[in-house]
Amino acid sequence: MKDAAPRTIRLADYAPPAWLVADVALTFRLDPQATRVLSTIRFRPNPDSTDRTFFLHGEGLKTISATIDGRPATLREAEGGITCDVPDAPFTWEAEVEIAPAENTALEGLYMSNGIYCTQCEAEGFRRITWYPDRPDVMAPFRVRVEGDLPVLLSNGNPEASGPGWAEWDDPWRKPAYLFALVAGDLVAVRDRFTTLSGREVDLGIWVRPGDQGRCAFAMEALKASMRWDEEVYGREYDLGVFNIVAVDDFNAGAMENKGLNVFNSALVLASPETATDGTYERIEAVIAHEYFHNWTGNRITCRDWFQLCLKEGLTVFRDQQFTSAMRSEAVKRIEDAQTIRRHQFKEDQGPLAHPVRPESFVEINNFYTITVYEKGAEVIGMLRRLVGAAAYKRALDLYFDRHDGDAATIEDWLQVFEDATGRDLSQFKRWYSQAGTPRLSVEEAWEDGTYTLIFTQETPPTPGQPDKAPQVLPIAVGLLNPNGDEVVPTKVLEMTEARQSFAFEGLSARPIPSILRDFSAPVVLQREVPSAERAFLLAHDTDPFNRWDAAQALARAALMDAAGGAGDPAPDWIEGLGRALADTGLDPAFRALLLDLPGDEDIAIALAERGDVPDPDAIHSGRARIRRILAERLSPQLEAAYHEGATPGPYDPSAGPAGQRALRNRALWILTAADGGARARAQVAADENMTNVLAGLSALLSIGAGEAEAAAFHDRWKDERLVLDSWFALVAGQAPPESAVETARSLADHPAFAWKTPNRFRALMRGLAGNHAGFHRADGAGYDFLADWIVRLDPVNPSVAARTSTVFSSWKRYDAGRQERMRAALHRMLDRDDVSRDLGEMAQRMLE
Ligand code: PHE
Ligand code: ZN
Repeated sequence: MKDAAPRTIRLADYAPPAWLVADVALTFRLDPQATRVLSTIRFRPNPDSTDRTFFLHGEGLKTISATIDGRPATLREAEGGITCDVPDAPFTWEAEVEIAPAENTALEGLYMSNGIYCTQCEAEGFRRITWYPDRPDVMAPFRVRVEGDLPVLLSNGNPEASGPGWAEWDDPWRKPAYLFALVAGDLVAVRDRFTTLSGREVDLGIWVRPGDQGRCAFAMEALKASMRWDEEVYGREYDLGVFNIVAVDDFNAGAMENKGLNVFNSALVLASPETATDGTYERIEAVIAHEYFHNWTGNRITCRDWFQLCLKEGLTVFRDQQFTSAMRSEAVKRIEDAQTIRRHQFKEDQGPLAHPVRPESFVEINNFYTITVYEKGAEVIGMLRRLVGAAAYKRALDLYFDRHDGDAATIEDWLQVFEDATGRDLSQFKRWYSQAGTPRLSVEEAWEDGTYTLIFTQETPPTPGQPDKAPQVLPIAVGLLNPNGDEVVPTKVLEMTEARQSFAFEGLSARPIPSILRDFSAPVVLQREVPSAERAFLLAHDTDPFNRWDAAQALARAALMDAAGGAGDPAPDWIEGLGRALADTGLDPAFRALLLDLPGDEDIAIALAERGDVPDPDAIHSGRARIRRILAERLSPQLEAAYHEGATPGPYDPSAGPAGQRALRNRALWILTAADGGARARAQVAADENMTNVLAGLSALLSIGAGEAEAAAFHDRWKDERLVLDSWFALVAGQAPPESAVETARSLADHPAFAWKTPNRFRALMRGLAGNHAGFHRADGAGYDFLADWIVRLDPVNPSVAARTSTVFSSWKRYDAGRQERMRAALHRMLDRDDVSRDLGEMAQRMLE
């Protein structure tokens, strides 16, 4: 059902709500085909609005009855909802509607997953449950009664009363409708308790399908650690008597911070050594923390409108990053986060989907839950903290919680607390929220009479709708090293505000070697031609772990780019430097593992496009294979030693130390496998110590075109473990040889277990193939057609997942004419349909512009 022309919503058009909600009472009579939702909502005029128009959102609701102050209301259809005549004074709205959760495949609103009722209301799902002013600046306390012949009936807040077939919940904290949640069904709980700073007892529950109880312990520990950390570091205490988490198998995203009742994708809760990898454990810890931290940054203080999404997401990501650094290694976490920004956020900025951290218009808000809003939003906060310092950051945050508790706030409010706490003028800094794109920072150097000068120039390329950019505030952390490797100037944060600006360091006895953009102090592309000997010097001597790692990355990137261009041998500086660092057992194994983490094929494609070349996916792929073999041969003693050093005998422990050792072992294994015919990898799969090592072995084997028997055995062993089977789908598609990857993906799509309406399974296969760079970009376009066909098929069923998957086409302008033509055709095939969803329609349109 294509609406006329989907409407564009603009930040500039924001108007406060005409009516506010004093309180809400809901009753759910659950039924798969005909759930009845009864609502009693007390409205009052908003003193801050002169408008008295009464409007309620609603989508796909069958209205059974509607009254105002007890008298039948005459509803008139309006765009996206209804309107009707109301008194010019407070009144009570009562309605009964019918919805069909079992038919809800979009997984927004009230839907069913394996017989469990659950909800997803962010961003605009509540309007599929009942008539309501479904906007985040309308906040109210909710009372909920759930009726249904089911063992478990959950909603937000504290449990009030219950009996056979019913339960009542009371959430005293005013909240917007997007934080509403209800879960009901046959679930079992793993329970624990937490005593808050001020002595409040909180009942913790993780609710899962019967049989999954044994895989919740790690998530529970992560939850308690998060609660403690938020008290200790941010002074934030939990505010209800219960905190529940539910794991569901069908979920559009990772997890959701509903007040007192978080709903999680089961992939981000359930973990056991046999079924989950170290990466999964780390992600579970981070996402549990993220959703918990939202209780203050998102729920107690929410967003005025969806343009302010980064207010809660950027800040909450920043907080979960700080938490992970505290739980694990700060240096390693910073490198991983920088890697994510460069790999994925810079890529978004490079293409047609580039948008500011705070977008100014959208058609479908689901399309703006992006890496730019989340991760770049977090980077912007990191820069702010770097500029004002840790103590001022803390003061500003205290002021933020004090001043805005209970508010629906804006980025202006957020920056104001920093201005008030520090006396700084942040008007130029604010451009980080409104200007899209990645600044390019170039550097010139001067050396004279003991004075070393760095001259920086910043420039941000045009992005859609933003041809011209103004200079931004860049915190540039710099340190200087002596030619003998000693640090002569420790890290100093230079504050760049002009388009071109120089900074002098005086009184030096020798020309120093600069270490620029330490700790990845700003999300920019540093453009500086550096001889490989100087990079190798930084790899050996830099005291800043990020720049030390980055020196190795830059050398690796250069080697891979040259190899893609057909060049023979990589710079000896790189191989020697890498070998020395690898053998330095004084360095954290997790850090050394990152040194071995070569840029992927797509990273090389991005880098080639960045310098104006047209990437050839096949050449990149074979170049990378060649470099891998060269490393395997020339560094074989160091790699072997690292492989053995990374052994973790004894019971599995997911914490950072052993996980780092395994990372080192498995990175070494991946390279060694290029030259040993797969012997080590095969042995590792057979040894079957834990899922981390098994999957690493399997992946190394598949990447050299071996391992078919091992993959089949893995499938047979794990075919009833849905989360493990997802990994199998992703791995087999992702590691297939490029020339046959599409055929492999086709046969996976024919597999009886390919439950394509389940987002995890769909994503596993589609993301698997799309991540197989040369396989997806096969010259005849078969990869594009495969993805496009499936996206078109999913779109009427689940538009938000279909639209999100379509972003794999956003890079189309990067490639040669033939591939461009085929990708464009695929995008048109997605777009030019009578029934294209608002979600996919907006994405395909933007990508084609
Ligand atoms: N708000 C969720 C988070 O970041 C993400 C989410 C958005 C989940 C929309 C579902 C739907 O934690
Ligand atoms: Zn979030």
